[in-house]
Amino acid sequence: MAEVQMYRGLRDVYFDKTEASFIDGQVGKLLYRGYNIHDLAQKSTTEETIYLLLHGKLPSRRELEQFDAQLRGNRSIPDEVVQIIRTVRKSHPMDVLRTAVSALSAYDPETEDKSSEATLRKGIRLTAQAPTIVAAHARIRDGKEPVPPNPQLNQAANFLYMLFGTEPDPEEARLMDVDFILHAEHGSNASAFAARVAAGTLADVHCAVVAGIATLKGPWHGGAAEQVMRMSLDIGEPERAEEYVRNVLASGGRLMGFGHRVYHALDPRAVHLKEGCRALGEKKGQPKWFQILSKVEEVMQPYAQRGICTNVDFWSGAVYYLMGIPEDLFIPLFAMGRVPGWTLQVLEQYADNILIRPLLHYVGPMDLAYVPIDRRG
Ligand code: ACO
Repeated sequence: MAEVQMYRGLRDVYFDKTEASFIDGQVGKLLYRGYNIHDLAQKSTTEETIYLLLHGKLPSRRELEQFDAQLRGNRSIPDEVVQIIRTVRKSHPMDVLRTAVSALSAYDPETEDKSSEATLRKGIRLTAQAPTIVAAHARIRDGKEPVPPNPQLNQAANFLYMLFGTEPDPEEARLMDVDFILHAEHGSNASAFAARVAAGTLADVHCAVVAGIATLKGPWHGGAAEQVMRMSLDIGEPERAEEYVRNVLASGGRLMGFGHRVYHALDPRAVHLKEGCRALGEKKGQPKWFQILSKVEEVMQPYAQRGICTNVDFWSGAVYYLMGIPEDLFIPLFAMGRVPGWTLQVLEQYADNILIRPLLHYVGPMDLAYVPIDRRG
């Protein structure tokens, strides 16, 4: 059999061009549409960042107001979808989100319209609706009624409001705002690739977002934040962190929240969540989680020299935990923040489409004789 050039996991393979985000994994640099993530995290808002991603430029004040109104006006979900959420309420919130987004396609007026204008409108609707799904499910499974969206609140504050039923503390709302900015887009990660594969067959954006949600669920991708918080709870006290880490590594395990296919330096998104975790822990009188995670990071220093540093998921879990958000909502939080990035990549895929269809190198037996069933041993 002929030798083939194999790129397992498509590592370091470019498969297309993008104008969405630029990542330099050697120095830990991330740009959205040319703008540095640090500037956006410090100076922008979720609404402005989503506009930037979807429209390719920073909005004027008037454009931002109109876009914000579009997001606020599209937050509600049909009663039929709430009913579906009630039916599957015992499932993992990520499965509920996937199911509900899939169900939304049955009620969207433009499901089959794959023009870029309709795809953009659908992506904006899904961006607005995803938090409503996650919050509604969290309440329903606790025996409470969903809280309707509050059009007075921005995307981040409204999510916390729908989840807890009270208007959030402004600092927590701002931290959630930053979190959404940091999660909005990230190149050809596994879930965006899955979304592009779906779009490459000319499936619609609901299908692509469902593929993205499904792919994000795994602990080697979006599921890491939940695992990091479980680890912190297991560790319990900062003094136990070192022994815990050494035991995981000695048994050949991986520390969740460390390492990245592209970053071989500190993930720039982690910087903001680390500071958010520290500040929120102080404010809540619970500095312990920051101390535990800082100790874990310190013990992992030798790995940092090999390019295995903390990633975005390392600090986000503790931030959510300090806000009182249940651990199994951490991945859906990531997913609802990523809907704009998936939408943008679907638009890019449609704009210059090609079917994404790589090859698998067959290594099994060849030309076996077919034996009828009654003659098999
Ligand atoms: N803990 C310990 N060792 C690690 C870790 C880790 N978290 N991550 C990578 N390594 C080691 C591997 O064991 C391997 O060592 P070896 O060369 O001695 O065999 C080496 O680093 C390279 O690892 P790969 O698996 O080849 O790296 P890959 O790019 O395939 O994996 C991944 C990236 C999956 C993210 C990995 O780092 C990992 O499993 N991390 C933990 C899960 C996690 O935090 N995921 C979130 C990623 S960020 C995101 O998706 C939003």
